[in-house]
Amino acid sequence: MDLPVDPLHRFPEDFVWGVATSAFQIEGSARADGKGPSIWDRFCERPGAIADGSHGEVACDHVQRWREDLDLVAALGVDAYRFSVSWPRVQPQGQGAWNDRGLDFYERLVDGLLARGVRPYLTLNHWDLPDALQQRGGWAARDTVHRFVDYALGLQARLGDRVAAITTHNEPWVIATLGHEWGSFAPGLKDRATAVQVSHHLLLSHGLALQALRAAGCRARLGIVLNLAPVHAATRSAADRVQARIDDGRLVRWYMDPLFHGRYPDDVLEHLGADAPRTEPGDLAAIATPMDFLGINYYSRSVASADGSWQAGRSGLALTDMGWEVYPTGLTELLLRLHRDWPVPPLYVKENGAAFRDECVDGRVHDAERVAYLAAHIAAVGAALAAGVPVAGYMVWSLLDNFEWTSGYAKRFGLVHVDYATQRRTLKDSARWYRDFLRRQRALR
Ligand code: NOJ
Repeated sequence: MDLPVDPLHRFPEDFVWGVATSAFQIEGSARADGKGPSIWDRFCERPGAIADGSHGEVACDHVQRWREDLDLVAALGVDAYRFSVSWPRVQPQGQGAWNDRGLDFYERLVDGLLARGVRPYLTLNHWDLPDALQQRGGWAARDTVHRFVDYALGLQARLGDRVAAITTHNEPWVIATLGHEWGSFAPGLKDRATAVQVSHHLLLSHGLALQALRAAGCRARLGIVLNLAPVHAATRSAADRVQARIDDGRLVRWYMDPLFHGRYPDDVLEHLGADAPRTEPGDLAAIATPMDFLGINYYSRSVASADGSWQAGRSGLALTDMGWEVYPTGLTELLLRLHRDWPVPPLYVKENGAAFRDECVDGRVHDAERVAYLAAHIAAVGAALAAGVPVAGYMVWSLLDNFEWTSGYAKRFGLVHVDYATQRRTLKDSARWYRDFLRRQRALR
């Protein structure tokens, strides 16, 4: 196979290689062992919300099959496994009583990773807010900020001594914008002012959780994971360039500026007008609480056009099954910019990967496109490192094919194929390639 990653390219010895998943997308057991419903359980009940009409009730049945799945993680030879805790599994109402059976599950998972020599990277919020909190206003309500801090402290008490890293939120832009402005993701609201307020509460809860975790003696490294991308104007027209500046403001600077400069960008505040967030004294200082790492999820670039007419595919670039352009140089561009424009801590690519139409034939999945995608993006990380950007890790999305939100089970991102009828797992060629790539890296250490 002709690979764009030079097999002899040497990443730093302590570079962290991993794979990632999230609770709602793999766990199943949605009503088992005292778990409460999440906003995604509810959202899946809406007719038409999920393309294939599916839901997360079984998913990859990971709650039952976690041992087999951790064996797969170990077989890949990764250093780290990134997973999320389902808040309603451990605290069904989002406040008050804890569910020991849920906590026990994550305790077994963390111990199982450690027993296999894999570092646990825990995410607190990968979107599945307890529905009970949504009934009280969800992320739009300031009280949810404090509920989240309590939730973080509850997990710290049970797991904080054994996890290597804790991420507060995964992709706050998606929660705020897709969930509360466009209405395409749970909880399915369509109101810009609400979405902006949600983004503020997510950021505030992140900062306050960091402070509370540190005060509680947490030794795990703490940070947040943002979905970021270079935003390119579709054409050189003034209108498209203005749109690119707005989109970049809302996607990138809206999160990076408060986290690292303690303020929201003026031009975005002006653009939002009356929809700007309501803040209280001290909020921005809390949001800017120093982090140990910044995680970024990168899949493709973003392209802005004032009239919304731009379509992926016209550029001539290859597309994934999500219809996203394969654009590895965007990852180098993004990492360089983050390093240049903000005083960032070590950066981790916490998700990168692609959906393709994989078929499992005779126990093999020949996913050459995914191998090429991963190799090109790992090379893009190498280019950023060579240019002096402090990148400390890279994780593939995802370990398993799983529930791809509104696309249901139709889009497959896994290194490991899942046959949903039998729950049989099959290593794809990309899993074998990643494993061999990591072996070569180890040999160079
Ligand atoms: C980012 C999200 O964190 C993850 O849940 C999702 O499956 C991937 N993007 C692919 O869309």
